[in-house]
Amino acid sequence: MGEGLRQNESLVIDGLHKRFVSQDREVIALQDINLTIRQGEFISIVGSSGCGKSTLLRIIAGLDTEYLGNVSIGSNKILGPGVDRGIVFQEHRLFPWLTVEENIAFGLQGVDKKATQEITKEHIELVGLRTFEKAYPHQLSGGMAQRAGIARALVNRPKLLLLDEPFGALDAFTKIQMQQEILRIWQLEKTTMILVTHDIDEAIYLGDQVVIMSSRPGKVNKIVPIDLPRPRDRTSDDFSQVRKIIYHEFFKEQDRPFVYAI
Ligand SMILES: Nc1ncnc2c1ncn2[C@@H]1O[C@H](COP(=O)(O)OP(=O)(O)OP(=O)(O)O)[C@@H](O)[C@H]1O
Ligand SMILES: [Mg+2]
Repeated sequence: MGEGLRQNESLVIDGLHKRFVSQDREVIALQDINLTIRQGEFISIVGSSGCGKSTLLRIIAGLDTEYLGNVSIGSNKILGPGVDRGIVFQEHRLFPWLTVEENIAFGLQGVDKKATQEITKEHIELVGLRTFEKAYPHQLSGGMAQRAGIARALVNRPKLLLLDEPFGALDAFTKIQMQQEILRIWQLEKTTMILVTHDIDEAIYLGDQVVIMSSRPGKVNKIVPIDLPRPRDRTSDDFSQVRKIIYHEFFKEQDRPFVYAI
Protein backbone atom coordinates (compact mmCIF):
# COMPACT_ATOMS: atom_id res chain seq x y z
CA MET A 1 0.00 0.00 0.00
CA GLY A 2 2.13 2.88 -1.25
CA GLU A 3 1.75 6.58 -0.59
CA GLY A 4 0.82 7.01 -4.24
CA LEU A 5 -2.46 5.15 -3.64
CA ARG A 6 -3.59 7.56 -1.02
CA GLN A 7 -5.67 9.93 -3.13
CA ASN A 8 -6.99 7.74 -5.90
CA GLU A 9 -8.07 4.92 -3.56
CA SER A 10 -10.50 7.17 -1.70
CA LEU A 11 -13.96 5.81 -1.02
CA VAL A 12 -16.38 8.25 -2.63
CA ILE A 13 -20.09 8.18 -1.83
CA ASP A 14 -21.96 10.56 -4.05
CA GLY A 15 -25.69 11.25 -3.94
CA LEU A 16 -26.50 7.88 -2.37
CA HIS A 17 -30.19 7.09 -1.95
CA LYS A 18 -31.56 3.84 -0.65
CA ARG A 19 -35.19 2.95 -0.10
CA PHE A 20 -36.84 -0.24 1.01
CA VAL A 21 -40.27 -0.99 -0.32
CA SER A 22 -42.55 -3.64 1.11
CA GLN A 23 -46.25 -4.33 0.43
CA ASP A 24 -47.59 -1.65 2.71
CA ARG A 25 -44.82 0.87 3.20
CA GLU A 26 -41.72 2.55 1.94
CA VAL A 27 -38.68 3.42 4.06
CA ILE A 28 -36.15 5.97 2.84
CA ALA A 29 -33.16 4.40 4.60
CA LEU A 30 -30.56 6.77 3.14
CA GLN A 31 -31.09 10.13 1.48
CA ASP A 32 -28.46 12.05 -0.43
CA ILE A 33 -25.39 10.75 1.39
CA ASN A 34 -22.16 12.41 0.25
CA LEU A 35 -18.92 11.34 1.89
CA THR A 36 -15.30 11.07 0.84
CA ILE A 37 -13.07 8.84 2.94
CA ARG A 38 -9.38 8.93 2.11
CA GLN A 39 -7.19 5.85 2.10
CA GLY A 40 -5.92 5.22 5.62
CA GLU A 41 -8.51 7.38 7.39
CA PHE A 42 -10.50 6.26 10.45
CA ILE A 43 -14.13 7.36 10.28
CA SER A 44 -16.64 6.87 13.10
CA ILE A 45 -20.36 6.99 12.36
CA VAL A 46 -22.92 7.65 15.08
CA GLY A 47 -26.67 8.00 14.82
CA SER A 48 -29.83 6.77 16.45
CA SER A 49 -31.20 3.31 15.85
CA GLY A 50 -32.70 2.89 12.39
CA CYS A 51 -30.96 5.87 10.77
CA GLY A 52 -29.37 3.67 8.11
CA LYS A 53 -25.86 2.96 9.45
CA SER A 54 -25.90 -0.78 8.74
CA THR A 55 -27.55 -0.16 5.38
CA LEU A 56 -24.69 2.19 4.49
CA LEU A 57 -22.04 -0.34 5.55
CA ARG A 58 -23.78 -3.13 3.64
CA ILE A 59 -23.77 -1.01 0.49
CA ILE A 60 -20.06 -0.19 0.90
CA ALA A 61 -19.37 -3.90 1.51
CA GLY A 62 -21.19 -4.70 -1.73
CA LEU A 63 -23.81 -6.82 0.07
CA ASP A 64 -26.60 -4.58 -1.21
CA THR A 65 -26.24 -3.22 -4.73
CA GLU A 66 -29.76 -1.85 -5.21
CA TYR A 67 -29.25 1.84 -4.60
CA LEU A 68 -29.20 5.14 -6.46
CA GLY A 69 -26.08 7.29 -6.70
CA ASN A 70 -22.46 6.37 -6.85
CA VAL A 71 -20.31 4.44 -4.38
CA SER A 72 -16.79 3.79 -5.61
CA ILE A 73 -13.26 3.12 -4.46
CA GLY A 74 -10.79 4.88 -6.71
CA SER A 75 -12.22 4.49 -10.20
CA ASN A 76 -14.08 1.26 -9.37
CA LYS A 77 -17.78 1.43 -8.70
CA ILE A 78 -18.84 -1.02 -6.00
CA LEU A 79 -20.86 -3.72 -7.72
CA GLY A 80 -20.58 -6.53 -5.17
CA PRO A 81 -18.43 -7.90 -2.35
CA GLY A 82 -14.67 -8.05 -2.83
CA VAL A 83 -11.50 -9.02 -0.98
CA ASP A 84 -10.53 -5.33 -0.87
CA ARG A 85 -13.23 -4.87 1.80
CA GLY A 86 -13.70 -6.70 5.10
CA ILE A 87 -16.68 -6.46 7.44
CA VAL A 88 -17.09 -7.18 11.14
CA PHE A 89 -20.67 -7.50 12.41
CA GLN A 90 -22.08 -6.80 15.85
CA GLU A 91 -22.33 -10.53 16.56
CA HIS A 92 -19.17 -12.38 15.62
CA ARG A 93 -20.81 -14.68 13.00
CA LEU A 94 -18.07 -17.32 13.32
CA PHE A 95 -18.94 -20.81 12.11
CA PRO A 96 -19.56 -22.82 15.31
CA TRP A 97 -18.26 -26.05 13.75
CA LEU A 98 -14.88 -24.57 12.82
CA THR A 99 -11.94 -23.77 15.10
CA VAL A 100 -10.53 -20.26 15.43
CA GLU A 101 -7.85 -20.93 12.83
CA GLU A 102 -10.28 -22.62 10.45
CA ASN A 103 -12.69 -19.71 10.78
CA ILE A 104 -9.93 -17.20 10.06
CA ALA A 105 -8.62 -19.20 7.09
CA PHE A 106 -12.11 -19.81 5.67
CA GLY A 107 -12.41 -16.67 3.56
CA LEU A 108 -8.78 -16.51 2.46
CA GLN A 109 -8.59 -16.38 -1.30
CA GLY A 110 -6.00 -17.10 -3.94
CA VAL A 111 -3.23 -18.68 -1.82
CA ASP A 112 -1.82 -22.20 -1.41
CA LYS A 113 -1.90 -24.34 1.75
CA LYS A 114 1.46 -23.19 3.11
CA ALA A 115 0.67 -19.50 2.62
CA THR A 116 -2.78 -20.08 4.20
CA GLN A 117 -1.07 -21.45 7.32
CA GLU A 118 1.37 -18.55 7.49
CA ILE A 119 -1.23 -15.82 6.92
CA THR A 120 -3.61 -17.39 9.43
CA LYS A 121 -0.86 -17.60 12.06
CA GLU A 122 0.15 -14.00 11.43
CA HIS A 123 -3.45 -12.81 11.90
CA ILE A 124 -3.97 -14.90 15.03
CA GLU A 125 -0.96 -13.09 16.48
CA LEU A 126 -2.16 -9.72 15.21
CA VAL A 127 -5.37 -9.99 17.26
CA GLY A 128 -3.68 -11.66 20.28
CA LEU A 129 -5.32 -15.09 20.02
CA ARG A 130 -2.21 -17.26 20.18
CA THR A 131 -2.83 -20.58 22.03
CA PHE A 132 -6.53 -20.40 21.06
CA GLU A 133 -6.01 -21.55 17.46
CA LYS A 134 -7.75 -24.87 18.05
CA ALA A 135 -10.57 -23.53 20.20
CA TYR A 136 -14.16 -23.53 18.93
CA PRO A 137 -16.29 -20.34 19.11
CA HIS A 138 -18.31 -21.60 22.11
CA GLN A 139 -15.03 -21.91 24.07
CA LEU A 140 -14.20 -18.21 23.59
CA SER A 141 -15.24 -15.13 25.55
CA GLY A 142 -17.20 -12.43 23.72
CA GLY A 143 -14.09 -10.28 23.27
CA MET A 144 -12.05 -13.21 21.97
CA ALA A 145 -14.76 -14.14 19.47
CA GLN A 146 -14.78 -10.54 18.20
CA ARG A 147 -10.99 -10.69 17.85
CA ALA A 148 -11.40 -13.81 15.69
CA GLY A 149 -14.06 -11.96 13.64
CA ILE A 150 -11.64 -9.04 13.14
CA ALA A 151 -8.83 -11.41 12.09
CA ARG A 152 -11.16 -13.11 9.63
CA ALA A 153 -12.13 -9.75 8.14
CA LEU A 154 -8.47 -8.70 7.80
CA VAL A 155 -7.09 -11.93 6.39
CA ASN A 156 -7.23 -10.87 2.72
CA ARG A 157 -5.49 -7.61 3.64
CA PRO A 158 -8.46 -5.45 2.70
CA LYS A 159 -7.91 -1.78 1.98
CA LEU A 160 -11.10 -1.04 3.85
CA LEU A 161 -12.43 -2.52 7.09
CA LEU A 162 -16.09 -1.94 7.95
CA LEU A 163 -17.00 -2.34 11.61
CA ASP A 164 -20.71 -2.44 12.50
CA GLU A 165 -20.94 -1.90 16.26
CA PRO A 166 -18.34 -4.61 16.81
CA PHE A 167 -17.93 -3.96 20.54
CA GLY A 168 -21.56 -3.21 21.39
CA ALA A 169 -22.09 -6.43 23.32
CA LEU A 170 -18.87 -6.24 25.36
CA ASP A 171 -18.40 -5.04 28.93
CA ALA A 172 -16.84 -1.61 29.45
CA PHE A 173 -13.31 -2.86 30.21
CA THR A 174 -13.11 -5.37 27.36
CA LYS A 175 -14.51 -2.70 25.08
CA ILE A 176 -11.74 -0.24 25.95
CA GLN A 177 -9.14 -2.97 25.45
CA MET A 178 -10.63 -3.84 22.04
CA GLN A 179 -10.63 -0.17 21.03
CA GLN A 180 -6.92 -0.01 21.83
CA GLU A 181 -6.39 -3.18 19.79
CA ILE A 182 -8.22 -1.85 16.76
CA LEU A 183 -6.21 1.36 16.97
CA ARG A 184 -2.97 -0.63 17.07
CA ILE A 185 -4.06 -2.71 14.05
CA TRP A 186 -5.09 0.45 12.16
CA GLN A 187 -1.71 2.05 12.82
CA LEU A 188 0.14 -1.13 11.86
CA GLU A 189 -1.83 -2.17 8.77
CA LYS A 190 -2.86 1.32 7.59
CA THR A 191 -6.28 -0.06 6.65
CA THR A 192 -9.02 2.51 6.06
CA MET A 193 -11.60 1.94 8.80
CA ILE A 194 -15.26 2.85 9.06
CA LEU A 195 -16.71 2.19 12.48
CA VAL A 196 -20.40 2.37 13.30
CA THR A 197 -21.02 2.79 17.01
CA HIS A 198 -23.62 3.92 19.55
CA ASP A 199 -20.83 4.89 21.90
CA ILE A 200 -19.82 8.53 21.48
CA ASP A 201 -16.60 8.13 23.51
CA GLU A 202 -15.60 5.22 21.28
CA ALA A 203 -16.30 7.34 18.18
CA ILE A 204 -14.09 10.16 19.50
CA TYR A 205 -11.35 7.88 20.84
CA LEU A 206 -10.89 6.22 17.45
CA GLY A 207 -12.01 8.53 14.66
CA ASP A 208 -10.23 11.11 12.54
CA GLN A 209 -13.76 12.33 11.94
CA VAL A 210 -17.12 11.60 13.53
CA VAL A 211 -20.04 11.48 11.12
CA ILE A 212 -23.35 12.21 12.86
CA MET A 213 -26.38 10.81 11.06
CA SER A 214 -30.02 11.72 11.52
CA SER A 215 -32.97 9.46 10.91
CA ARG A 216 -36.13 9.27 8.81
CA PRO A 217 -34.77 9.71 6.28
CA GLY A 218 -31.19 8.69 7.08
CA LYS A 219 -28.90 11.62 6.30
CA VAL A 220 -25.48 12.89 7.23
CA ASN A 221 -26.21 15.65 9.67
CA LYS A 222 -22.75 16.83 10.62
CA ILE A 223 -19.11 15.78 10.28
CA VAL A 224 -16.91 16.67 13.26
CA PRO A 225 -13.13 16.44 12.72
CA ILE A 226 -11.24 15.13 15.76
CA ASP A 227 -7.89 16.83 15.92
CA LEU A 228 -6.71 15.31 19.22
CA PRO A 229 -3.32 13.55 19.14
CA ARG A 230 -3.29 9.76 19.65
CA PRO A 231 -3.37 7.90 21.95
CA ARG A 232 -6.28 9.95 23.23
CA ASP A 233 -7.01 10.49 26.88
CA ARG A 234 -10.74 10.13 27.57
CA THR A 235 -10.35 11.94 30.88
CA SER A 236 -8.66 15.02 29.40
CA ASP A 237 -10.32 18.44 29.09
CA ASP A 238 -9.77 18.43 25.32
CA PHE A 239 -11.61 15.12 25.00
CA SER A 240 -14.48 16.43 27.15
CA GLN A 241 -14.71 19.47 24.95
CA VAL A 242 -15.12 17.36 21.80
CA ARG A 243 -17.59 15.09 23.62
CA LYS A 244 -19.65 18.14 24.51
CA ILE A 245 -19.74 19.34 20.89
CA ILE A 246 -20.86 15.93 19.64
CA TYR A 247 -23.53 15.46 22.31
CA HIS A 248 -24.95 18.85 21.47
CA GLU A 249 -24.97 18.12 17.74
CA PHE A 250 -26.52 14.74 18.36
CA PHE A 251 -29.31 16.00 20.56
CA LYS A 252 -29.93 19.07 18.41
CA GLU A 253 -30.67 16.63 15.61
CA GLN A 254 -32.92 14.60 17.90
CA ASP A 255 -34.84 17.78 18.65
CA ARG A 256 -34.77 16.95 22.33
CA PRO A 257 -33.36 19.02 25.17
CA PHE A 258 -30.03 17.85 26.47
CA VAL A 259 -28.40 18.80 29.73
CA TYR A 260 -24.68 18.14 29.77
CA ALA A 261 -23.02 17.49 33.09
CA ILE A 262 -19.90 15.62 34.14
N1 LIG B 1 -34.12 -5.50 4.39
C1 LIG B 1 -34.89 -4.46 4.77
N2 LIG B 1 -36.15 -4.34 4.35
C2 LIG B 1 -36.92 -3.29 4.71
N3 LIG B 1 -36.50 -2.28 5.49
C3 LIG B 1 -35.23 -2.35 5.94
C4 LIG B 1 -34.36 -3.43 5.62
N4 LIG B 1 -33.16 -3.23 6.22
C5 LIG B 1 -33.27 -2.07 6.89
N5 LIG B 1 -34.52 -1.53 6.72
C6 LIG B 1 -34.99 -0.26 7.26
O1 LIG B 1 -34.06 0.75 6.94
C7 LIG B 1 -33.86 1.63 8.03
C8 LIG B 1 -32.38 1.64 8.39
O2 LIG B 1 -32.01 0.38 8.94
P1 LIG B 1 -30.53 0.07 9.43
O3 LIG B 1 -30.48 -1.35 9.83
O4 LIG B 1 -29.58 0.53 8.38
O5 LIG B 1 -30.41 1.04 10.69
P2 LIG B 1 -29.22 1.24 11.73
O6 LIG B 1 -28.88 2.69 11.74
O7 LIG B 1 -28.13 0.28 11.44
O8 LIG B 1 -29.92 0.88 13.12
P3 LIG B 1 -29.30 0.18 14.46
O9 LIG B 1 -28.50 1.23 15.13
O10 LIG B 1 -30.54 -0.20 15.23
O11 LIG B 1 -28.50 -1.02 14.03
C9 LIG B 1 -34.78 1.15 9.14
O12 LIG B 1 -35.95 1.93 9.12
C10 LIG B 1 -35.08 -0.28 8.78
O13 LIG B 1 -36.37 -0.65 9.19
MG1 LIG C 1 -27.35 -1.38 12.49
